[in-house]
Amino acid sequence: MTEGSAELCAERRVYRLYRFREPFLDVETELVAGQFSDRYPFVPTRGITGYRTGPLGLGHVVFHTHDVRGAVAFYRDVMGFGLTDYMGWADAEAVFLHCNPRHHSLAIMNLCMGRTSGTFNHLMVEAQEYDDIGYAYDVARDKALPMIMDLGKHTNDHVHSFYIRTQGGYGLEYGWGGRLVGPDWQVRFYDQPMLYGHRTPA
Ligand SMILES: [Fe+2]
Repeated sequence: MTEGSAELCAERRVYRLYRFREPFLDVETELVAGQFSDRYPFVPTRGITGYRTGPLGLGHVVFHTHDVRGAVAFYRDVMGFGLTDYMGWADAEAVFLHCNPRHHSLAIMNLCMGRTSGTFNHLMVEAQEYDDIGYAYDVARDKALPMIMDLGKHTNDHVHSFYIRTQGGYGLEYGWGGRLVGPDWQVRFYDQPMLYGHRTPA
């Protein structure tokens, strides 16, 4: 682990930063302290209500690894994440972990769907209102953005969302309505990721 330079801290707008190569997902990871707040609130350029972030963080990320058990143990025992739930379907296995009340900030998947270890599957950002998902869906369709999964709802976190492929190759899930993990949360196992929808376009 190395400490980030003053220049890097300034670029990230944080007080202090440490970097290390995370051993299971094989990704460059940064731990930060003292994230600076902007004087000016975020104002979307389109007429939407904004994003559900603050104490819930940016959203969630999903990675593939050759060692799901090792990765889960690392994030639970070393990084202090809590176990939310499990999912298994076809050749896929996923473990969902939380570090705040958001259902999951990190999900770890096996090497299903031809993915290699360290592959970044997707980032999820969550809108404040469902209508914002509808507006964004129209924009995505009008601009013919590459759709990975059509509108649908997940079984475990109850997020309504659609997925597009970004220019970086990873997915962007645009969602709404995620449920929160409370003190009496019970870990469950799901055999399907979607309650409905989330179909792959032809
Ligand atoms: Fe997701």
